Amino acid sequence: MKARVVGFLLLALVGRLGATEPAPEMKFAWVDPSSPAAVPVRQAGLRMIDILGGNLVGETERLLATVGLNESVELLHLQNLKLPRAIEGRPKLIGFKFTSYRIRNPRNAPDAAELAALDYIRDALKRGSEEASQPLVQKIERAGAPDEWRVYRPLATMTSCLYCHGAFDSLQPAVRAVLHRRFPEDQAVNYGAYDWRGIVRVSYELPAPPPPAPAK
Ligand code: HEC
Repeated sequence: MKARVVGFLLLALVGRLGATEPAPEMKFAWVDPSSPAAVPVRQAGLRMIDILGGNLVGETERLLATVGLNESVELLHLQNLKLPRAIEGRPKLIGFKFTSYRIRNPRNAPDAAELAALDYIRDALKRGSEEASQPLVQKIERAGAPDEWRVYRPLATMTSCLYCHGAFDSLQPAVRAVLHRRFPEDQAVNYGAYDWRGIVRVSYELPAPPPPAPAK
């Protein structure tokens, strides 16, 4: 898998999607990733997720090597990443997020739709599903705004992640101290290498359909 080349492990997930009960506060629906409406979003989403995964790993390693472990804690992850500019007629990227069941920063807590994606992946992993890696696609209705289309993929830890997400007792005391100060409710520790860490989510708006042809 290409993503492995950059050392970013995306776990495989399952293909067929069933309907999930929408959470009351958010209207979302699962979309078959191979349906015609989802294909452009899925393709753009997967490319973006590969880039984000590469950036997440690249940034982690670069910061560890340059500013060092303690400073890195203040700077991660991709806080200042600029979104690429929208291209006319293509799905427009409107945001991305890393989230998980066990979060460090409360700001990264999953919303109802993200929680459904986490549940879906957790269940697939429990079944030990060997099916080819499949992105998850959702459509979210937003009052007064175009639908938000989401693409998700799972995210795993690599050894370099364990400086800050590994067994709590194994963390360097200085790191533990920074984490404790910045994130007193931190739950994002005690991972092992190649554990399932969470999900990456990218969100898109679809281009407006072309205006109807003028009447003759
Ligand atoms: C130098 C310490 C450090 C390293 C190394 C590190 N992280 Fe993090 N990680 C953090 C911090 C700090 C946050 C909270 C960031 C924020 O405020 O959004 C975080 C947050 C996350 C989140 C978002 C959910 C949450 O818990 O808030 C994910 C997912 C994540 N890290 C995955 C990884 C992965 C995968 C790696 C390895 C490629 C990695 N991290 C390496 C410090 C680190």
